[in-house]
Amino acid sequence: MPDHSIPEVLPACGALRTAFLRTGYHADSILALLGADAHAALGRGEPVPVRRAVNDGGDLGTLVRLFLLGDTCSMEEAGAALAPLPLDAAVDAGLVRPYGVGVRAALDVRPLDTGTGTSWLVSDLDGDRRSPAGGPMGAAPAHADPAYVPGVGQASLSLLRATPTASVGSVLDLGTGCGVQAVHVHGHAHRVTATDVSARARALAAASFALNEMNVELLGGSWFEPVAGREFDQIVANPPFVVGPARVRHIYRDSGLDLDGASELVIRGAPAHLTPGGTASLLASWVHVRGEQWRARVASWIPEHGVDAWVVQRDVADPALYVGTWLRDAGIDPGSTEGVARSEEWLEHLERADVEGIGFGYVTLRRTDQPSDVLAEDLLHSYPDPLGPEALAYLQRVVWLRDNDLLSSRFVVAAATTLQQVSVPSEHGWEQVVARLHRGDGPAWQHEIDELGTALLAGMRSAGLTLGGLVTMLEAANGEPSGSLQVGAVALVDGLVRHGLVLPA
Ligand SMILES: C[S@@+](CC[C@H](N)C(=O)[O-])C[C@H]1O[C@@H](n2cnc3c(N)ncnc32)[C@H](O)[C@@H]1O
Repeated sequence: MPDHSIPEVLPACGALRTAFLRTGYHADSILALLGADAHAALGRGEPVPVRRAVNDGGDLGTLVRLFLLGDTCSMEEAGAALAPLPLDAAVDAGLVRPYGVGVRAALDVRPLDTGTGTSWLVSDLDGDRRSPAGGPMGAAPAHADPAYVPGVGQASLSLLRATPTASVGSVLDLGTGCGVQAVHVHGHAHRVTATDVSARARALAAASFALNEMNVELLGGSWFEPVAGREFDQIVANPPFVVGPARVRHIYRDSGLDLDGASELVIRGAPAHLTPGGTASLLASWVHVRGEQWRARVASWIPEHGVDAWVVQRDVADPALYVGTWLRDAGIDPGSTEGVARSEEWLEHLERADVEGIGFGYVTLRRTDQPSDVLAEDLLHSYPDPLGPEALAYLQRVVWLRDNDLLSSRFVVAAATTLQQVSVPSEHGWEQVVARLHRGDGPAWQHEIDELGTALLAGMRSAGLTLGGLVTMLEAANGEPSGSLQVGAVALVDGLVRHGLVLPA
């Protein structure tokens, strides 16, 4: 018996690709067809301006209505838009399904341009675009179904932006889903391996790879089992990290491990699968337990030797907000009978584990042959640039800090660093209350800095005094005992170098 829960899209991909190339089903052509306003409306999930804009849009307009709006299209127009893929082959492949006198999309197939041109990704339709009636393709999962394969979500895009894109030999995408990370890294890697425990995810990822004519090694199995004994130059993973009881209700987000066990497993497991110098970019979450530091918890997952780690916390949710958000994500109203029962159980579980909050963010690892260097910090503010290049630059700065004596080195203030001095009016005129360094690019770090620190940075020149020389001068100028400012200066400069506000000359 064929397994109807796994669509056989692969045989249709060659002709579908031809149809997409012929019609120009690309991110930029769709923007050109819709215009900026209707394109923005599409992003907001408002169909009417989009329908009006594609009224006379020919085959491209039909594909937009079929796959991006989820409209019913007539057999004739769908057949014309999908040609040379015959409509009945598209139905057999599970791409579209008969609906009344026309057809509707049965899978989500959409272009994505992450800066290197269009690629196409195949995933399940989100809950909003599935027909309530179900229809003949009723076996395809809805968002709440256990086997649901999500498309490119905010988390996928955020990992993509946090992933370095320097050229590498081999990449592993662990838990590939629709294949978005593997497709993204394909542009800078010679070999890409993607794994997923879900057969449905693997079928859709295979379709994504075929549509893009990408040769990706696709392996089934749990966590690192399919790549046992193998090493990669880069690992990317957006694992099923939702924090809760140890069970799997939705395979795309539940790990079957208690609380933050999935993040722990991936962070602990990744270094053994990295080549020397290889890096891992991971999305992860961690619980904030009463009386415990979240930084110490994540740091305890990293071995004492052989790994440089940069952990940035992007958000923290209280248990109630967290549970409500993830219930809604699965299409469950927290006020419904099911929602109430699930909330009770979930919140009770978190309460019993003394969980006060759930943090979420990026973990960048590099395999080294040195004692580990671990920095876990908050990055809760917004910043303009993708984090991927910064993650790599951060790891390079860590290597520099390990290999060099700071006191005998020269430094410069980075070009994007500015100093903001805030003063308030007082009886003696303006009184400075705080001075802050700002980084104008990358993660837009800010550091408060005192008067001595400001003076130290003011003296930094590429051909000037070493840090030790500057400190000696400052000690003399301020009547401080010789050597008394060294420890503080080294700690300050170490922190500023890590954050790219000050750089080795
Ligand atoms: C949050 S989705 C990420 C999908 C995709 N990589 C992305 O970035 O959008 C997590 C993926 O991990 C897969 N997964 C769940 N449990 C797994 C396990 N034990 N081993 C490997 N993959 C697993 C799910 O099927 C799902 O495709």
